[in-house]
Amino acid sequence: MKPDDFEIVELGDPRLRQVARAVDVADLTSALAYADILQYWMDQRGGVGIAAPQIGVPLQMMIIASRPNARYPDAPAMAPLLMINPEPQNLSETHTALWEGCLSVPGLRGKVTRPEGLDVRFYDRTGQSRLLELTGFPARIFLHEYDHLIGKTFVDRVASPQDLVSEKVYLQQIIAAPSP
Ligand code: NI
Repeated sequence: MKPDDFEIVELGDPRLRQVARAVDVADLTSALAYADILQYWMDQRGGVGIAAPQIGVPLQMMIIASRPNARYPDAPAMAPLLMINPEPQNLSETHTALWEGCLSVPGLRGKVTRPEGLDVRFYDRTGQSRLLELTGFPARIFLHEYDHLIGKTFVDRVASPQDLVSEKVYLQQIIAAPSP
C-alpha cells in the first residue's frame, strides 16, 4: 500500500457521501497503514487535517494538525494527531463563524458557523482510549473532519449560498479586508 494507490476524493464523488464505519481497535495494523497515507496526502496538499473518506477509505479515522501554513497563516502549531473512532461530546454553546477550505473542495471557501469547543473521546495510534478538550482552531478542524466521517462537507454547512466564495475572492477580498 503506497500513497499513489490513493487520491484525494473530490466533491461530487459518492465516496465523500458515505458514512464511515468504526475501526476495529483490537488490530490497528491496517488502520495505521492508512494513517501513513493520510499523513502523506495532507502534507502533500498543505492541509491542517484530513479524514479517511477523503482518500476513499470509509473508516472513522482522521488526522488533525493545526499549524501555520500558506492556507492558514494564523493557525496555532500542534503535532499531527491521529484520532480513531472519535466521538464528539459536550459541544460548547458558543458558536463562531470562520471561512473553511477543504482538500476535497478545491478552489472554494465557505463561511461556516460551528461550536467553539468540545471534548473528544477517541483511540490513539497505540489503541489507547483518550479524552481531549479542543477549543478554537483545533476544534474547528476536528468538527470539519468529523463531518467527512458522516458524509458531509463544509458546503453542506453554510447558512446561505452567499457564504460560498472562490479561493481567489477569499484571498483577494476577504482575508485582505480588515476584520469587523
Ligand atoms: Ni475537508
